[in-house]
Amino acid sequence: MKTNEELLNIAKEVSKNSYSPYSKFPVGACVLYENGNTYSGCNIENSSYGLSLCAERNAISTAIAAGETSNLVKIAIYSPKSSKCYPCGACRQWLQEFEQGQDIQILLESDSGEILEYGINELLPHSFNLV
Ligand code: THU
Repeated sequence: MKTNEELLNIAKEVSKNSYSPYSKFPVGACVLYENGNTYSGCNIENSSYGLSLCAERNAISTAIAAGETSNLVKIAIYSPKSSKCYPCGACRQWLQEFEQGQDIQILLESDSGEILEYGINELLPHSFNLV
């Protein structure tokens, strides 16, 4: 099972692949599943700005497209442009979709380089749910 530091390092590496010519704000994300599998994603922008895809949703999409059915337990998020690169509202809602009562952990790097941990239920309390 990868450590929090390893997950953040993967997020850092994949942020280098970001396609962000408009914002020039690269982001990388790495998701960890209960079975130990990891998947990564970067943000991908578009000249029609609203079509841009966040790194977190890219990582989750990659996992699902690969056939992953285990529980999502953690996500590490990194941007070289900002310490504490919190997930946007849309990505919080995407993460909540896959919360299975275990409060998905969100890992960010602080200004001083230490790893900060949040729970999705803390970042998006009282979230919309159909059930
Ligand atoms: N971005 C992410 O990749 N994840 C977030 O949670 C927030 C924003 C991207 C979208 C866009 O390409 C750039 O950061 C600037 O908003």
